[in-house]
Amino acid sequence: MAKPNTFVCSSCGASFSKWSGRCEACGEWNTISEETPLSAGPSSKSLGAKRGRPVTLTDLSTQETPPPRATSGLDELDRVLGGGLVAGSAILVGGDPGIGKSTLLLQAAAAFARKGLKTVYVSGEEATAQVRLRAQRLGLAEAPVRLAAETNLRNILTTLEAEKPQLVIIDSIQTMWADNVDSAPGSVTQVRATAHELTTFAKRHNVSVIMVGHVTKEGQIAGPRVVEHMVDTVLYFEGERGHQFRILRAVKNRFGPADEIGVFEMTGSGLAEVLNPSALFLSERGQPAAGSVVFAGIEGTRPVLVELQALVAPSPHSQPRRAVVGWDGARLSMILAVLEARCGIPFAGLDVYLNVAGGLKISEPAADLAVAAALLSAREDAALPPETVVFGEISLSGALRPASQTENRLKEARKLGFTAAIAPAGGKIGSGGGLALTRPADLTEFVGEIFGA
Ligand code: TYD
Ligand code: MG
Repeated sequence: MAKPNTFVCSSCGASFSKWSGRCEACGEWNTISEETPLSAGPSSKSLGAKRGRPVTLTDLSTQETPPPRATSGLDELDRVLGGGLVAGSAILVGGDPGIGKSTLLLQAAAAFARKGLKTVYVSGEEATAQVRLRAQRLGLAEAPVRLAAETNLRNILTTLEAEKPQLVIIDSIQTMWADNVDSAPGSVTQVRATAHELTTFAKRHNVSVIMVGHVTKEGQIAGPRVVEHMVDTVLYFEGERGHQFRILRAVKNRFGPADEIGVFEMTGSGLAEVLNPSALFLSERGQPAAGSVVFAGIEGTRPVLVELQALVAPSPHSQPRRAVVGWDGARLSMILAVLEARCGIPFAGLDVYLNVAGGLKISEPAADLAVAAALLSAREDAALPPETVVFGEISLSGALRPASQTENRLKEARKLGFTAAIAPAGGKIGSGGGLALTRPADLTEFVGEIFGA
């Protein structure tokens, strides 16, 4: 019989038969350590004959669909969950330490509890008195949330079976340990085992379970990616440390659209919902300046306007710098290469910096044209026409592709006082929502029309 793999990566959970310095699966360094393997699956002797019997689809009662959902009243949270919390679902909320996960979930617990959901908040990191103090600071001291400070999973599950809650929050999965697993809390084996137990508990008792997972860089403890595949919904809480904005992003959701975002603002008394993120992301925008372009994007189901800033300057280095915040570095290199090869605009010998204002991370290809506009505007030191939004995808040939949901983007732009838009020709665009439209056929035409080159 083959010997089980015992070396596990704490970042992605991949297992190997021998140790190495770098995980072949995810590329992280120093994340592989030896782990005691979990016991094997059920042996054929213990197989139950009746359980797991298939039923035909039509046998399922229609009452089970759509799943019942509970709303918290925090619209930003409810939307990211896909329209509320599905009973019996397992949810993972990941994020860097100190980003605000405990604050968010305590506020969520209070909101759900006030809506009548029986809620238990289990903290493995703070004593109940500390959680209560935090609740007081957030103005939630009166909320009917039950608190527990415990890290032993067996105790937690016993308590939960007696309490019969509808929502359980586990803060955090890395502090929990199952006493039948011979491994330290936070190790891959423990995190996997406890997440599995909690997910099973959620399904069996029809209780929603939200688990907090710290993202780790050092590989000392297992990161949330180890449990991502076990749960129904994975949300990441992100933001730049220096910024007051925080974004809750769905990266996987069995019960709703992925890529949905909720925007929050950090205040002295907790997280406040931002119902109009475009206005917030553009609020710091000053006079029209070279290198600044407003991108009309779509995040999940919602249009979001955001400012892109570029800086292009002669480089003192033999290898010019390319630095990006909030966008994909490889995609930036691609745009630079296309501008050079198809439009004859070189960036050799120039440092290039690109920043997405407000701490938002953009992954849409429709940002290509806005990035190109920002780079050209910075390089030529010429501002774009004022009150203009830009969007569209650029292909390697220099052709432009229309973006999805064009009308929604234009509508949002008009709502925020923009008067013009630059978007690729083709695609459904309607009347343009009253905006003056410039519709270049390809990148060369775009460069010519905007910068007269
Ligand atoms: P915390 O929720 O403890 O972060 P995490 O659980 O992700 O580690 O928040 C970190 C600190 O930030 C904490 O001292 C409280 C503070 N904070 C605010 O003052 N206002 C806010 O809106 C948030 C989210 C956090
Ligand atoms: Mg915390």
